[in-house]
Amino acid sequence: MSANINLPRILRVGAGASAELAATLDELMVSSPLLVTDPFMKECGYVARLLQQLDEGNVSYGVFAECVPDPTTDSVAAALEVFRSGAHDSVIALGGGSSIDTAKAVAVMAEREGPMRQYKVPHTITSGAPIIAIPTTAGTGSEATRVAVISDTETQEKMLWMGLGLMPVAALVDFELTLSMPYRLTADTGIDSLCHALEAYVSRKANPFTDSVALSAMRTIALNIRTACEEPDNRTAREAMMLAATQGGIAFANASVTLIHGMSRPIGAFYHVPHGLSNAMLLPEITAWSVEGARGRYAQAARVMEMAADTDADSLALEKLVAGLRQLNADLSVPSPGAWGIKEQDWFDALPVMAEQALASGSPANNPRIPDVNQIVELYERVWRV
Ligand SMILES: [Fe+2]
Repeated sequence: MSANINLPRILRVGAGASAELAATLDELMVSSPLLVTDPFMKECGYVARLLQQLDEGNVSYGVFAECVPDPTTDSVAAALEVFRSGAHDSVIALGGGSSIDTAKAVAVMAEREGPMRQYKVPHTITSGAPIIAIPTTAGTGSEATRVAVISDTETQEKMLWMGLGLMPVAALVDFELTLSMPYRLTADTGIDSLCHALEAYVSRKANPFTDSVALSAMRTIALNIRTACEEPDNRTAREAMMLAATQGGIAFANASVTLIHGMSRPIGAFYHVPHGLSNAMLLPEITAWSVEGARGRYAQAARVMEMAADTDADSLALEKLVAGLRQLNADLSVPSPGAWGIKEQDWFDALPVMAEQALASGSPANNPRIPDVNQIVELYERVWRV
């Protein structure tokens, strides 16, 4: 059986990659981009630096700098209005996953009409305006995926959008943009990347191409995430984390995520827990439950991340994997759902709906051990008790 691999047409990776924006637009032959970003990017000067390049290159452009965390159909509609009124031909996404996903949704809706919810999975989005992604966190990997997550303002559902229309044509992966990231954001986005790599590696859709990038990414993250958190200006750790985040994106875009991401989206939708943090809350317990479905692969993951020794038998490596992931959460001060501020009654009342939404996303069906809806409820209960 062959594997189908999708990638951005242009990937520029390394220090200064974002300084190649004007040249990239030239290469793509787009002439009127809308820069989609958030207020912080403007404040910290990243927007001005990009716009200076565009001015020097005589590119006409527009700016939408009001992206919000966890983009909604309403926030996308506001950006879309700016795109349409400026007659733009492409979108530059600058920021973390929320800005990139907003830009992706704008690119898709630029060619479409009607309520956005009709484009969620299982619908496939085949086309859209060209997207140039410039990530400023080492996390979502959204710059290399054909996926976006948009919350439905009316139903609160975190909708999954999928299809080649969401794949950026170019990604400028510049680790220097992550040097200022605070501890919590570094930890949460880093664990998001780790989940992408681990889930892609154990996914039922894994293939030799995604295995190689997933293993490389998970090792790099496991060995560098603590340093990147504790030493924000450590260029070696930042460069490693940024590359691994894009690799994690490439891995899961072509092998899918599994149960952790399936269960994570409802936690984000109901309680507004940041995406990486809700993944982190789930990572050790969902892995502990899933290992029986792919013992060899999980054991190999433990060895590659140096949580287990090369000489450890699978059974020991699996124990060490779960212990290692729990330790990682402890080291990075990942709170439990309760410690984060979710009320116990709210959590338990919502579990049936959360479990239904998790299952409906399709991600759990790619898990090596596939849960039914009752088992997902039980897993949410277990995660609460940790
Ligand atoms: Fe993710």
